Amino acid sequence: MTKHILFGLLSATVLLASCTQKPATHPTDEPFRSVYHHSPAANWMNDPNGMFYDEANGVWHLYYQHNPFGTTWGPMHWGHATSTDLLTWEEHPIVLYPDSIGTIFSGSAVIDKKNTAGFGENAIVAIFTQSERIGQHQSIAYSTDGGYTFTKYEGNPVLMGDIADFRDPKVFWDEQSNQWTMALACQQEIRFYGSPNLKDWTYLSSFGKDLGAHGGVWECPELIKLKMTNDQMVNKFVLLVSINPGGPFGGSATQYFVGDWDGKTFTPAPQGEGREGASKWLDYGKDNYSTFTFHNSPDGRLVAIGWMSNWQYAEVVPTVAFRSQNTIARDLFLFTDDEGEFRLGSVPSPESLALRGEETKYLPDAGIVELTLDGSQDALITLSNDKGEKVVMNLDVHRRTFSMDRTASGDCSFSHDFAARTVAPLFIKRDTYKVLLFIDHCSIEAFDAEGAWSMTNLVFPSEPYNHLDVQGGEAKIYTIR
Ligand code: FRU
Repeated sequence: MTKHILFGLLSATVLLASCTQKPATHPTDEPFRSVYHHSPAANWMNDPNGMFYDEANGVWHLYYQHNPFGTTWGPMHWGHATSTDLLTWEEHPIVLYPDSIGTIFSGSAVIDKKNTAGFGENAIVAIFTQSERIGQHQSIAYSTDGGYTFTKYEGNPVLMGDIADFRDPKVFWDEQSNQWTMALACQQEIRFYGSPNLKDWTYLSSFGKDLGAHGGVWECPELIKLKMTNDQMVNKFVLLVSINPGGPFGGSATQYFVGDWDGKTFTPAPQGEGREGASKWLDYGKDNYSTFTFHNSPDGRLVAIGWMSNWQYAEVVPTVAFRSQNTIARDLFLFTDDEGEFRLGSVPSPESLALRGEETKYLPDAGIVELTLDGSQDALITLSNDKGEKVVMNLDVHRRTFSMDRTASGDCSFSHDFAARTVAPLFIKRDTYKVLLFIDHCSIEAFDAEGAWSMTNLVFPSEPYNHLDVQGGEAKIYTIR
């Protein structure tokens, strides 16, 4: 009996046991349904939206771009899910429906602690794009029940578009200018707007012309304050900008800029040409797009989630009842690389690491692998199944890269853009490289354990990978809780 069948029997037993209790909120109803990543129970999902943390109740709220009528993109709504551990998600009714102003595109949410908008102290205010045939505008809606239902503001839209692509408002309270500040994607640049009350918005500045990658439209920006790096106190800001197409491996990806914010203007730090040109990428896989952080994350943390897909093939991947899932939660931070350049790092959030269960000899179909690779020689890591499908990873100490090749990983037939090999610069030279692999039913997320790089890739093997071969290092395999 192969280990895979054994695991299947075990999970069948677990499923039987839980059937007598209460129905699972996310049935593992098809082979590529993620076990520990958020996915919609049914139908289409793209960007995570409006994420915030309700500290009074310990609840993480996640809204998302949702078409409730099918498994491809369509009329957008905001779906809603909550979690107390960032691993298990409960699905709630849709919170925002299209209306005469337009469908509901991406946006953000804030807790209005000082009642600046007049909807009530601690009202949750969502700021989002409404898209119609001839334009895109920003609207707001408020919730006085902690984010479960929203009422649209009667004065919508609060910011009318003057160009075709005018969307994805991400709002934060800026202590320097003492006002709400919005980053908005406008074709291939980011505009900033300020407001005292979330209703009246004034143009502040624009950023991005001739800077960074411009192979496609800019979307889903976020301006984030970072206080320190690995070795120094700084007062830097990072501007996340998703771009589609124009990512380093084709299609969608999230670039970022490190710089200064004076309450009005974002000034990027001088960017060395470095190893990868002037563009910096949040993730070096093909499947991490529209990453946003949760507003009001606890302890000043920057907890982020991205959409784990790519517009090149998101609508044709071989899932059945639903399409798309989000990445695991990651904590973002700033560090300086070996060349003294500021970089945005990401590590699995402590909540994601809490997944780690017992150490095991067998590769489970959803598990965590911790690799310890000797920094003086190349390493080759192969995940494979009995059908010969495989994902090959390579630590190249000479080129100082980590790569993942999914060209033979399983079903790649649905899109000629899917088969790919992605490569991350290591950024920091170490004697020993610790790499974490988060494996779920259709994804592999690889992390430098200290967060210098991450790589997120989907895979669709016809049966789970059940062999792990490591040359040039050691591996510990863990089940998930
Ligand atoms: C990014 C995006 C956003 C837009 C949304 C529409 O994936 O194109 O710019 O608001 O998706 O669903």
